[in-house]
Amino acid sequence: MDNRHILVIDDQKDLRERLAQFISSSGKKKETDKILDNIRGRLGADEDPGQAPHGRQEVYYDVDSAASGEEGLQMILKAIELGTPYALVFLDVRMPTGWDGLHTLDKILSADSKTQIVICTAYSDFSWEEILERVGIRDNLLILKKPFENMEIAQLALALTEKYNSEERIRQTQKMDTIGNLAAGLAHDFNNIIGSIQATLSSIEFTIATSKDLQSAKIDLGSDIGTLKTAAKQGAEMVEILLSLSRRQDLPLAKVDLNKVVENVVRICKRTLDKSVSIRFIPLENKATAEAYSVQMEQVLLNLCINAAHAMTLMRPEDHKKGGLLKIEIQDIRVGENMLSAIPDAKEGDYRVISIEDDGVGIPKSIISKIFDPFFTTKSEGQGSGLGLSMVYSIVRKHKGFLELFSEPGKGTTFFIFLPAVKA
Ligand SMILES: Nc1ncnc2c1ncn2[C@@H]1O[C@H](COP(=O)(O)OP(=O)(O)O)[C@@H](O)[C@H]1O
Ligand SMILES: [Mg+2]
Repeated sequence: MDNRHILVIDDQKDLRERLAQFISSSGKKKETDKILDNIRGRLGADEDPGQAPHGRQEVYYDVDSAASGEEGLQMILKAIELGTPYALVFLDVRMPTGWDGLHTLDKILSADSKTQIVICTAYSDFSWEEILERVGIRDNLLILKKPFENMEIAQLALALTEKYNSEERIRQTQKMDTIGNLAAGLAHDFNNIIGSIQATLSSIEFTIATSKDLQSAKIDLGSDIGTLKTAAKQGAEMVEILLSLSRRQDLPLAKVDLNKVVENVVRICKRTLDKSVSIRFIPLENKATAEAYSVQMEQVLLNLCINAAHAMTLMRPEDHKKGGLLKIEIQDIRVGENMLSAIPDAKEGDYRVISIEDDGVGIPKSIISKIFDPFFTTKSEGQGSGLGLSMVYSIVRKHKGFLELFSEPGKGTTFFIFLPAVKA
């Protein structure tokens, strides 16, 4: 189902209500259009009766409004919690009381990095440069100068909710792709669990059939029950993994310990990656605090780990031995001026750097500039969709971080994720 949930934040009651009202009605067809549709339908015109004369279908917007930045943020957080996040927010940046527009914008973006935002402004309270300086260059921000025409609002509502939904579909595809990549490993483990349950049940049957009295059966049954409990726990843990991977909603940006995030990913990898891959994790000695969307960061790490595992298994030539070492490490690195020229995306500052290293096939120089492109893949169908690294790139950008990589064909590859360090 498409998300057409829209929020209007404006301190002026009449403006806010008019805008909300207008957006809701802009998705509906006029009565005259409906009558025309009806006549066409009855005349058996070959046009789909659900389509307006211009091919437009009715769009049902669900529009809410808030009187201040604070109220707006509360509604956004609530909407995320309820699983009905806002696809689009119209934000008036000039609000004389309470939070100013820029502060509100910052808060909204931290709460929900995917929502599309239209900044409405009458005066040049903030220049575009000031806004970008504060929140970085983003493709989910538009500016709309007042006074605006109603049609502009209608088109923005239509185009931007559509953009949100297309992006959401890609995110879902990509997640399913990740799950697909892990499914074989999970299936294998599930099989083991089921095998152990079946064997234990036979053993219980045998005990019941052969025991003369309860007392002598108790010892055997006790250990069998222990085995079943372990199996149930393992099964539950794997369901937990599947659920966490397919979770639709991201949590808002929050301070997280990257050590914990990586630990969780390592746990998933140990269960699902090919068993010929051994995994080693070297955490940061202290807490590795960073501001992150943890679900998205897990997604990034999983994709890099899956790629690393592939490089050591299915990407190896057939006559080569499968397997190798996947090493993940977190370090603190200060990026100074000398590094800026080497890494085009870099900015100076203190970073937590997560490195994901494999000793797989490496990446040929000739394709390195293409690997982040959406749909670029060297894997055969069913093994890769080419969406992993493009997603990794955009998520890391959203975290105000950047990526670096070293690769040597035949030796292996290391990806580095730089995330701005924050105090615990
Ligand atoms: N660790 C790695 N070692 C070797 N090649 C890699 C590695 N990571 C990525 N690549 C190359 O980059 C391509 C794109 O990766 P990605 O966007 O994750 O898509 P996919 O894994 O679905 O092919 C891969 O097909 C592969 O050729
Ligand atoms: Mg991949």
